[in-house]
Amino acid sequence: MGKKVTKAIFPVAGMGTRFLPATKSVPKEIMTLVDRPLVQYAIDEARAAGIKEFIFVTSKGKGALEDYFDHSPVLEQELRRKGKTELLEILKATNMESGAIAYIRQHRALGLGHAVWCARRLIANEPFAVILPDDVIAAETPCLQQMVEAYEETGGNMVAAMEVPPEAASAYGVLDLEEDRGSIVKVKGMVEKPKPAEAPSNLAVIGRYILSPSILRNLNKMKEGAGGEIQLTDAIAQDIGTSNSVYGFRFRGQRFDCGSKAGFLQASVAFALARDDLRDDLSRYLRDIVQLDKAAE
Ligand code: G1P
Repeated sequence: MGKKVTKAIFPVAGMGTRFLPATKSVPKEIMTLVDRPLVQYAIDEARAAGIKEFIFVTSKGKGALEDYFDHSPVLEQELRRKGKTELLEILKATNMESGAIAYIRQHRALGLGHAVWCARRLIANEPFAVILPDDVIAAETPCLQQMVEAYEETGGNMVAAMEVPPEAASAYGVLDLEEDRGSIVKVKGMVEKPKPAEAPSNLAVIGRYILSPSILRNLNKMKEGAGGEIQLTDAIAQDIGTSNSVYGFRFRGQRFDCGSKAGFLQASVAFALARDDLRDDLSRYLRDIVQLDKAAE
């Protein structure tokens, strides 16, 4: 039912003020979980889902992010000369095909909906994905791939969704459920950052979307929403009740909020523990500090 999704938008224009002073000169998306930048996780997930065109919505000061995607022939040559084939492979896996990446500038920080709208001419009349690199999802089958598979059945619009503690719901877009089918839920309403008493559920939107081009038309209206910003959530909610229904997708995997320091640190530990070369040392260290902590109690 759903058409093939080959384009993805990565909104990366945010200033990353929560990570100051680092983000004075390093775009947040280049900050690393172990040794891979946040944006590399997002790219890998998109590729696994069949995405061929990668559209970055950037802003002033994101030069290092654009440079990251340049090929590095000199470095590759050096690694080859030294016989460091493993590193060479790691490096090569980050190379992108010529013409696969586009950068669009968002000139003013008017909100996530506005950032997505900035890419409208590159999307034209096709369904597209949106990935927020701050939301890192560890999963056996990458989250967007799970969604693409579900979307083949549903068509319409699909947002990744996850149950959050009710007191945390006001930090998210929140779904109002019409029909709960388990991993797929049909949505009859969506609210961006509801007041605690007004959240319709505790099923929150996480930063993965597959959207119909109608969302870009909805965004043309540029209506301000929560926080005075143009919200993607509102533009999606406008499609409810049209032929492009809205579905939430409960993905299988663990999501880390790398937009917060605590989430970023948790993701760093989780990804390091998943690595053969780091697991033993790190888990020994973690056990030691927990024991010290207990002894001090
Ligand atoms: C954005 C979206 C929100 C969503 C969240 C997921 O909010 O506007 O609907 O729940 O991402 O991380 P932000 O975290 O950018 O404020």
